[in-house]
Amino acid sequence: MITIRALRKEFIVTDGKVAALKKLDLDVEEGEFFVIVGASGSGKTTLLRCVAGLETPNSGEIQIADRTVFGDNPPVWVPPQDRNFGMVFQSYAVWPHLTVFDNVALPLREGAQKIPRQQVNDRVRNALHMVQLDEQIERPSTLLAAASSNG
Ligand SMILES: Nc1ncnc2c1ncn2[C@@H]1O[C@H](COP(=O)(O)OP(=O)(O)OP(=O)(O)O)[C@@H](O)[C@H]1O
Ligand SMILES: [Mg+2]
Repeated sequence: MITIRALRKEFIVTDGKVAALKKLDLDVEEGEFFVIVGASGSGKTTLLRCVAGLETPNSGEIQIADRTVFGDNPPVWVPPQDRNFGMVFQSYAVWPHLTVFDNVALPLREGAQKIPRQQVNDRVRNALHMVQLDEQIERPSTLLAAASSNG
């Protein structure tokens, strides 16, 4: 479950401040498929980045699975790598020197949890199968765009 209370995030820009999140309250139940829609610039990415720990909100509180990962009173800050949170970025965020397999395996191999090699292998293959990328699995990630545009 994700619980967000009175979350505020402002950015300082050349001509003042932009309020990206204005006292946002939100509850996402465990297993719930939750969709956020809104106009461009309405704060969707900022919200996800705050939950993942890639932005520091100005105030409010964020809890993931009953653990406070951000809070202003008392001050709490859990770094992104300790939040056990996955995020798929809006724009291209793929390591060009790794294969498709190794890109997907990276967070499983590098995370704090020590996942056995066979389990990493199975999970990566399952994930790539789900999105019909089985045939690209050993290819350099830089060839993906060419592969998909060629059908
Ligand atoms: N690093 C930043 N510096 C300054 N302003 C920012 C920064 N990141 C976001 N903003 C501003 O915060 C507001 C929310 O932006 P955000 O990217 O969260 O919107 P979004 O809903 O994800 O938009 P889109 O649908 O275009 O992806 C916008 O006004 C944006 O210009
Ligand atoms: Mg966005």
